[in-house]
Amino acid sequence: MIAPWVERVFYLLAAVLFIAGLKRLQSPETARLGNRISATGMLIAIVVTFLSSGTVTYGTIIAGLITGGLIGLVMAKTVKMTSMPQMVALLNGAGGGSSLLVASAEFLHVESRGIAPSVDVAITTQLGVLIGAVTLTGSLIAFAKLQELMTGRPITFPAQKTFNAAIFAVIIALAAWLVAAPTAPVWAFYVVVGLALLLGVLLVIPIGGADMPVVIALLNSYSGIAAAMTGFVIRNEVLIVSGALVGSSGIILSQIMCKAMNRSLANVLFGAFGATSSASGKSAAGLTVKETNIEEAALQLAYAQQVIVVPGYGLAVAQAQHQVRELMDLIEKRGGVVKFAIHPVAGRMPGHMNVLLAEANIPYDKLLDMDDVNPEFERTDVALVIGANDVVNPAARNDPSSPIHGMPILNADYAKRIIVMKRGMSAGFAGIENELFYDAKTQMLFGDAKGTLSKLVAEVKQV
Ligand code: TAP
Repeated sequence: MIAPWVERVFYLLAAVLFIAGLKRLQSPETARLGNRISATGMLIAIVVTFLSSGTVTYGTIIAGLITGGLIGLVMAKTVKMTSMPQMVALLNGAGGGSSLLVASAEFLHVESRGIAPSVDVAITTQLGVLIGAVTLTGSLIAFAKLQELMTGRPITFPAQKTFNAAIFAVIIALAAWLVAAPTAPVWAFYVVVGLALLLGVLLVIPIGGADMPVVIALLNSYSGIAAAMTGFVIRNEVLIVSGALVGSSGIILSQIMCKAMNRSLANVLFGAFGATSSASGKSAAGLTVKETNIEEAALQLAYAQQVIVVPGYGLAVAQAQHQVRELMDLIEKRGGVVKFAIHPVAGRMPGHMNVLLAEANIPYDKLLDMDDVNPEFERTDVALVIGANDVVNPAARNDPSSPIHGMPILNADYAKRIIVMKRGMSAGFAGIENELFYDAKTQMLFGDAKGTLSKLVAEVKQV
């Protein structure tokens, strides 16, 4: 057992480390250090909590730390970059599930002893249970959708929102009863838990797979709020602080993603985006694309003064970041300038392209944000679009009937020439045609990005 003041000092230290770590996540250069600083804060918080509680034996603590640490290590080492959203979904689910278990244990413990908890504890217990349960099942559905264990399309049924609202109303009524009358029967509590678990499923099934990254950021926020509520229940300051940090950063991230897609959070949550493919803008009937080949594309790249690479989800799928780096080096050796245009929602998770390109040691100063790079396209000889689609779709600017109308895009179509590398004519995430592919200045270079880039590298060497 340690003295309460010692516990408080270490909790404060842990909270400071969390904030210092979060601050360093702002840039890819400092992100690893930021992660380590926050993880150190978490280790301090865990050890101090166990030392001060005195309710568990050290064998249990060490076994828990080793088992959890090993599972985390294996997951972090083996997960593919493109599967990161699924992994975050599972971690959010684990966070929500923990809050549900702790708040439930506290409720049942107090209830079995016939003690009436204070009103604040009673309220935060119910909130911890409700938000924790919704986060748990909502995250599992998000995981199943992204892992393609179930359909990624929105699942809707008549009067869905009314049905969900009715379930929510019953939960609130029962939870209020449990708060107001400590003698309320325990079945009411189990009904709250059951309905909250069901609500998590019902809230996420109508959301399309494409919107899952936003939902995951939101569920991340929920898991933080649930943890903060649980912190009030068990009177643990560091849980309140860390939960509040996760809760607020998750909601900020959701907002940033929505803004970059020009959608409101309400539209993401209730709009069933992608439920019908008929609502997907113009069709390209009658139009043809111009195809190019490796030799022709290599010549254009080798003699270009400025090339802007637009990376997208396909680059991540193909894992072609090292080949892009090689191509960049070759062009630059010949005197050309290569820049990378980073759209905030390119790929499938925030910062996806930055992390991917950093893996291949592409210097950070070559990665330009949308606002900085857009004025550059007009004086660019070749815009090389690799596995990107929606983020360069001019329909977002020109076609008010397009589902992505209003989404800010990279102006690749303003470049003197555009080479688009993708495997075929499949649509991107939004499921819509891209008029850029039919532009007179555009040439399509079909094939898997990795294979095509390797061939391009070999060919540019020959020029
Ligand atoms: P997408 O529009 O999804 O297009 C990716 C393209 O890559 C596809 O058209 C596909 O065409 C091609 N592709 C797939 N595998 C490939 C491979 N191995 N080699 C070459 N090409 C390949 O990608 P984007 O432009 O990056 O846009 C991202 C989309 O995700 C946006 O709609 C955005 O709103 C959405 N989104 C992103 C986020 C975050 S946070 N990043 C969150 C939510 C939603 P083929 O199959 O024909 O090859």
